[in-house]
Amino acid sequence: MEISFLLNGETRRVFVTQPSMSVLDWLREEGLTGTKEGCNEGDCGACTVMVTDETGSRAVNACLMMMPQIAGKALRTVEGIAGPGGALHPVQAAMVEKHGSQCGFCTPGFIVSMAVGHLNGRHDHDDMLAGNLCRCTGYAPIIRAAEAAEAAPVPDWMGTDAAWSAPEIPADALLPQSSDELATWYLAHPEAVLIAGATDVGLWVTKQLRDLPEVAFLNQCKDLQGISETDEGFVIGAGVTIAALREWAEGPHPALAALLRRFASEQVRQAATIGGNIANGSPIGDGPPALIAMGAQLTLRRGEVRRTLALEDFFLDYRKQDRLPGEFVESVTLPKSAPDLACYKLSKRFDQDISAVCGCFNITVEGSKIATARVAFGGMAGVPKCAAAFEAALIGQSFTEEAIAAALPALAQDFSPMSDMRASAAYRMQTAQAMALRYLRARLGEPVSVLEMTP
Ligand code: FAD
Ligand code: FES
Ligand code: FES
Repeated sequence: MEISFLLNGETRRVFVTQPSMSVLDWLREEGLTGTKEGCNEGDCGACTVMVTDETGSRAVNACLMMMPQIAGKALRTVEGIAGPGGALHPVQAAMVEKHGSQCGFCTPGFIVSMAVGHLNGRHDHDDMLAGNLCRCTGYAPIIRAAEAAEAAPVPDWMGTDAAWSAPEIPADALLPQSSDELATWYLAHPEAVLIAGATDVGLWVTKQLRDLPEVAFLNQCKDLQGISETDEGFVIGAGVTIAALREWAEGPHPALAALLRRFASEQVRQAATIGGNIANGSPIGDGPPALIAMGAQLTLRRGEVRRTLALEDFFLDYRKQDRLPGEFVESVTLPKSAPDLACYKLSKRFDQDISAVCGCFNITVEGSKIATARVAFGGMAGVPKCAAAFEAALIGQSFTEEAIAAALPALAQDFSPMSDMRASAAYRMQTAQAMALRYLRARLGEPVSVLEMTP
């Protein structure tokens, strides 16, 4: 397939023979070796590049992006961050000034993330740079550099990518332009692998060394990337990225937004989609427990036929979902508000880590009694799952510590968690119970986060 894109200000037309080839591999074969390969799995940020389209500029991992995903977009690597004649970008000058680099292996990735943050006026450097790892400098000088560059104007050359428009290229079935095109094509090719953000599928290639069968890329289906409001609630397109969902959720669903802040890293959130997070059916995905606790409805589409089901019913068994051949996730519908929702993610690191346990609670209280309870967990079973027995034990009880404590043993009817490298079965169960008590105490206004504790 032929694609075109803007590379460091220059229009390129490239014939892609292997659709699963990563942008990182392509760049390095082109001699643009400033972009580094560290982990090749989205964890280190050494391969960070900037991608610009009509929705803005963002930092993403080139190791997890496949070549067809950059069709029609502008790509800027670390080689394109300095200006004409080698003029340093303000973040580069600040990194020199603040001693932000030692061995330098991580530095190109940091520079690109910092330049994107600078372009977008971001001052939340801890958040913006959480997906960039440095083994030798330490983060303090790097954060100082990012802060020092904040006030400098955006250099002219950084603003030009947004104005680029791609030349006409013959349409390719692997890049459907709408959900209608996708639906028709997928019905005829039900064995194909759909690729949205590629933050899961990319690892099948880079880590499991799998050859993918026929594939289709979803990122040109703009009609899957919207969020709309209907009488039923908010309809979130399957192609909405975790970053976009987080930004939107700050308004109607702040507890969901807070959880998504803990989802992977800036680079992964900018690529990963909510549809991919649901469809891949991971028992430790962060989206599904929160959405199940909110009472989300999932819409699947196969050809012209759509069906809607409660999200929890989609997850049948470990890695087995209620999805027919040729059927794809079209959208997920959330309630307009869920003021009682709280989500807790336990992982070994605050940033860039998969959950050991993710507990999501949405309990309403009328008078002093629990009227409704929706509680869902990730990491406690082979699928993201409701705590049905626990919910039943809560409803009608007083919203007190004694009543919650009395209901906790019901969690053992709902879950028999496993032991693995993230946590033992006993620790998972203990954590799930502690999360329930944490929820109660938070609702009663007690400090529950270490950030809220005072000595
Ligand atoms: P893809 O990789 O494109 O696809 C995933 C699966 O879904 C594939 O089977 C694909 O065929 C299928 N698919 C995609 N879209 C559709 C659709 N519309 N209809 C039907 N099938 C579809 N996940 C978390 O939950 N929390 C984390 O903290 C987290 N951290 C991560 C950190 C790193 C470094 C990495 C690499 C991944 C992490 N993940 C995490 C996993 C991953 O980012 C998410 O599962 C993500 O939401 C997947 O979305 P995607 O668009 O990239 O999916
Ligand atoms: Fe580590 Fe890409 S090489 S994130
Ligand atoms: Fe060596 Fe960051 S400077 S890894």
